[in-house]
Amino acid sequence: MAPSDNPHGALMDRVYGRQRHFYDLTRRYYLFGRDRLIRGLDLAPGASAVEIGCGTARNLIAAARRYPDARLFGLDASQAMLETAKGAVYRAGFSHRITLVQAYAESLSPHVFGEPGKFDCAFFSYSLSMIPDWLRALAAANQALSPSGRLHIVDFGDFSGLGRIGRAAMLAWLRRFHVKPRAEILQVLEEWSVDADHTLWVSPGRYAFVWSARRFPNRALTDVADQPHAEGNP
Ligand SMILES: C[S@@+](CC[C@H](N)C(=O)[O-])C[C@H]1O[C@@H](n2cnc3c(N)ncnc32)[C@H](O)[C@@H]1O
Repeated sequence: MAPSDNPHGALMDRVYGRQRHFYDLTRRYYLFGRDRLIRGLDLAPGASAVEIGCGTARNLIAAARRYPDARLFGLDASQAMLETAKGAVYRAGFSHRITLVQAYAESLSPHVFGEPGKFDCAFFSYSLSMIPDWLRALAAANQALSPSGRLHIVDFGDFSGLGRIGRAAMLAWLRRFHVKPRAEILQVLEEWSVDADHTLWVSPGRYAFVWSARRFPNRALTDVADQPHAEGNP
């Protein structure tokens, strides 16, 4: 495994260098909503889907099983995670259908995978809460989608249903893993009702949310940037 030159990639390699070996075993107990998102992808035969921040490829393998004719792509900042992902994809027998690349969400494009056309689907699963410039990542995902393509997100919510102490404990625990829940995204998506096609599910305790729509609304991108906790804001 070659260490990453990019400071964020190097940080992700440090975070996941050891964790990747027991990541799938442990995360099943607290990364809720991932299977709900996969069921909602609803990929037509021949459709292409990209996971941004694919980690161990757990979701891509589940999607490959559920949608036997879909073409699947995954990118991740961490070489270490991708090494584990490549082994898992190989063992699952999907090396011919799942393409994995080391790249950054902020510069996602179909060309990163050598693909000439845009994607039918793009999804973030618990990665937006780790991507430094997550607004740019959302804008890049919008750009990478075909006009009828869909964007899906599952991530932590604002924990407001867990009480003050529960919320503070969750945030402190996640900080240890460099995870910053983007509560402002959920707030904006809840207010956003123009796209009749969108779906939003919020778990009990507002622990997690699963959202899907044609794309992340451009106006909502501006709204998110205006929120007081958004990256780069005071
Ligand atoms: C919490 S893990 C989620 C992995 C997987 N999506 C899942 O649901 O199990 C977050 C992943 O996002 C990746 N990541 C973080 N920042 C990234 C960035 N800027 N570009 C691409 N991937 C990134 C990390 O390396 C890590 O593999």
